[in-house]
Amino acid sequence: MKVEHIGIAVKDIEKADALFSSIFQVAPYKREAVESEGVITSFFQLGESKVELLEASKEDSPIAKFIAKRGEGMHHIAFEVEDIEAEMKRLAGEGFRLLNDKPKMGADNKMVCFLHPKDSNGVLVELCQSIS
Ligand code: CO
Repeated sequence: MKVEHIGIAVKDIEKADALFSSIFQVAPYKREAVESEGVITSFFQLGESKVELLEASKEDSPIAKFIAKRGEGMHHIAFEVEDIEAEMKRLAGEGFRLLNDKPKMGADNKMVCFLHPKDSNGVLVELCQSIS
């Protein structure tokens, strides 16, 4: 439907909040921890899209691994879909590998699923569906 948000991996979410606040001229509207993913997130609303900052909250978090390997920066692009299960089925049927076989609870009232970045030119794609 649209680019729902862009995810950026950061080492220090306090510093990144301040930095992106001065770039965007708007404060984050939400800070939310997602325990299951080992992340703390912060969201900025920019028109119809968002920016999600992600800091690792534990050592084995996917964000900690990403930063150790590639440094801070662009982590994923999230596309909003109407029916996440239908999209997952469709993409799996076309041979894309899904990182989770069932939609899981993400930040910001969303059900999410990630596609394997090796199947999409190195871009980590998130599908998300609002649950509110
Ligand atoms: Co995301």
